[in-house]
Amino acid sequence: MVSGAADLPHAFDVVPVRWAGTAVDLLDQRRLPAAEVWLRLDTVAAVVDAIRDLAVRGAPAIGITAAFGVALAAVVSDARGAGDVVAAVRDAGDALAAARPTAVNLGWAVERVVAAAGAASDGGREAVVDAAVAAAVAIAESERSACRRLGELGAGLVADGANVLTHCNAGALATGGYGTALGVVRAAVEAGKHVHVWVDETRPVLQGARLTAWELGRAGIPNTLVVDSAAASLMARGLVDVCVVGADRIAANGDVANKIGTYSVALAAAAHSIPFVVAAPVSTVDLSCPDGAHIEIEERADAEVTNVGAVAVAPAGQIAANPAFDVTLAALVTAVVTEAGVARAPYESSLSELFT
Ligand code: MRU
Repeated sequence: MVSGAADLPHAFDVVPVRWAGTAVDLLDQRRLPAAEVWLRLDTVAAVVDAIRDLAVRGAPAIGITAAFGVALAAVVSDARGAGDVVAAVRDAGDALAAARPTAVNLGWAVERVVAAAGAASDGGREAVVDAAVAAAVAIAESERSACRRLGELGAGLVADGANVLTHCNAGALATGGYGTALGVVRAAVEAGKHVHVWVDETRPVLQGARLTAWELGRAGIPNTLVVDSAAASLMARGLVDVCVVGADRIAANGDVANKIGTYSVALAAAAHSIPFVVAAPVSTVDLSCPDGAHIEIEERADAEVTNVGAVAVAPAGQIAANPAFDVTLAALVTAVVTEAGVARAPYESSLSELFT
């Protein structure tokens, strides 16, 4: 009997954020892999906190969550029966967009839902709610199908038998399902290729060790966890064929903001003539941002560095710096894989063509 893809272990997928009608449901990524706990968030403030505290993380996933947060504001405001629903939607949009600064998907998604709600205002409260919910659900669906499509396009860059190195988690958990960097891996495996993934642990909050290893394990895709500082030496030993990572914001010139440590991976890949591929939906490309120097890099709490999880590993009171992202210069990027096509240098023209 020939198995369909759905019967195979690599068909494992998770949709980490869901619209629940009067609430937003989230798989709490702070608890993985030890526990699979779903949160039901029924206030905008709870959605903002969940984004800030990394209960949900990854650029497309926080965009989808924020979109649902704006829809929730409309639902909650309408249920009160008084007050201006569009104003409530706008206030929620401001709070949600400010929850984290680096991923462009957050502001992008919020703007879309707020605009849809505003455009429906002549139709009354119910029309505003319907428009906000429909816009948010549409974003979730289109981001998910974007991952499938970019995965198919990116799979062509992964040879049969390849060793892929990835950093952070750019999988189903970081998106509306399927994943970007891991979507590329997944699509290559679904196309019948044998792929092994080197998983950078991704200090300080260990998205690689906790989330990427969990996802790949569930999908039955062979993978090996390494400390971040092992990546360059794996490359030197000929053990990496291609690096595939996600992105939080891609500037018009092709500079890429992604999880701290990505730049080091790209530098090492260039030194060893290994392709460095960025996989992201078009919603992550920010043509209004000229280059990486204009991307705001989130600074997070010292405690994420002085602790590993709940365990302190530095002296009490130790000062730390915790930039959560870095910028990889466009010159180090071999290709940007999106659902609209694969962009290559010169990025000024190839990225803007994705929008036409
Ligand atoms: O701080 P995080 O976990 O939200 O950072 C996530 C990343 O840097 C991902 O690589 C990026 O958002 C791409 S997710 C498809």
